[in-house]
Parts: sequence; C-alpha cells; structure tokens
Amino acid sequence: MLNVSNLSASYGAIRAVKGISLKVGQGSLCVVLGSNGAGKSTTLRSIAGLHRPVEGSITLQDREISRLKIHQVVRHGLALVPEGRMVVAPLTVEENLDLSGFAGRGSDRSDRERVYELFPRLKERRQQKAGLLSGGEQQMLAIGRALMTQPQVLVLDEPSMGLAPSIVDLVFDAIVALHKQGQSILLVEQNAAIALSVCDYGYVMRRGEIVVEGTAEMLRESPEVMKAYLS
Ligand SMILES: Nc1ncnc2c1ncn2[C@@H]1O[C@H](COP(=O)(O)OP(=O)(O)OP(=O)(O)O)[C@@H](O)[C@H]1O
Ligand SMILES: [Mg+2]
Repeated sequence: MLNVSNLSASYGAIRAVKGISLKVGQGSLCVVLGSNGAGKSTTLRSIAGLHRPVEGSITLQDREISRLKIHQVVRHGLALVPEGRMVVAPLTVEENLDLSGFAGRGSDRSDRERVYELFPRLKERRQQKAGLLSGGEQQMLAIGRALMTQPQVLVLDEPSMGLAPSIVDLVFDAIVALHKQGQSILLVEQNAAIALSVCDYGYVMRRGEIVVEGTAEMLRESPEVMKAYLS
C-alpha cells in the first residue's frame, strides 16, 4: 500500500538519501534501522511531505504523493509521528487530540476513545497541558495525535528516544496492539533488538542507502546486523 521507489533527498549539496526503495504492505509492521545520520528521518520526512525529494516515487494505495504538501499527505491517509514528538505544549491532552482530528479525515469521539483505550494514562491526564506531561506521556500523545487523523499508514520516527526502559515497553506494547488491530506501520528505530522483536520486515540504512533488508527473522540472524546493532 505504501510504496517508495528510488527515493533520493538532499540538503543543498548533501545527498542524505540515495535512491532507496521500500514497501509497507497492508497491515504490516516494517522497520528501518540505522545509526545516527544514516538518513532515516530524511526518508520519513520525505514520505510525509515535510521534505521535497530530489527524485523517486512515493505511492499510497497507488496514488502518487511525493509532490504533495504535508496536510494533503495526511488527508490521503499517512501520518508521521516526528522525532522529538512535537505536541502543542500550551494545549491540553484533549485539545491536542481534537486539533489533529480536524487536520485529518473527519474524526469523532470514537477516535478519541480508541486513543484513550490504547493509552489509559492519557485519559487520566486529558485536562492537563501537554507541556507538563512526562516524555513518555508526550510520546503517547504524539502517537494519539497521529491516530486521530485515521491513517492508513502510521509512520513513527524513533518513538523510544530518550525514554526509560519501562516506558519504552509501554510504547511498544501499544505499537504491537495497533499492529494486531491491522494498522499498517512504518517504524524507524535505533534500538534494533526491540524493533526486530515486533516487526514483520526490516531495512537497514547506512549513509543514505539500504544495505540489508529481510524478514525480522533473517535480520535477527544476519551476522552483519548482529555486529552493527545487536552486540
Ligand atoms: N536540516 C538539515 N540540513 C542539513 N543537513 C541535514 C539536515 N538534516 C539532516 N541532515 C544531514 O542528512 C544526513 C541524514 O540525516 P537524518 O537526520 O536523516 O539521519 P537519521 O538516520 O535520522 O539520524 P538520527 O539517528 O541521528 O536521527 C546527515 O548527514 C545529516 O547531517
Ligand atoms: Mg533521525
């Protein structure tokens, strides 16, 4: 359903992404691994309409989205949870969710309830200002905001970043629950062990290129991946 083909993206003279291809099938959970500066965020930002690619094709349900702006991409059914979360600090949890709902494809109270079911902590704190939440709660809210747009593909950029291990587990439990509900997900992670324990298929990026790809099982057993990420 999401099909990225030969995508390249640059910052001035720096070519951050060099002709990569990847796919996220209906209901699958795909992961992109890679160390700092590999080009993971640039790839996601290009897919989400935040960065204009130099070349390549990005289709969502066979519709080309690579030249669209972010709000148009959201309406086509793709939502990015960015690196660093980006919740609206002065607004409450509930206002943050409703604001995203407006940007999406017509959400209603049941979408909010779905978010609260996934993250009961957000329900407890629904009247609290987002800026006063812990890092983990902000990550939950960022995911909740993306879900309010009813995405066909949910795209997450390093949701575990900066979180305590117990909170990382909570966030990944939610990702697994969404996957079980049939949500298609593209996940970028530096924590390869946790990512490969939940995904169906993975890609490894290095210096703007995909150097290895395969099923989670294949990647878990790949000596190259073991050496670089799991040792
Ligand atoms: N706004 C920018 N301006 C110039 N260069 C940038 C910009 N953002 C990223 N880059 C460069 O593009 C390359 C890829 O960066 P990107 O942020 O996509 O990597 P990443 O894999 O997400 O890394 P990280 O794990 O640190 O988040 C790096 O060389 C980075 O320095
Ligand atoms: Mg990044």
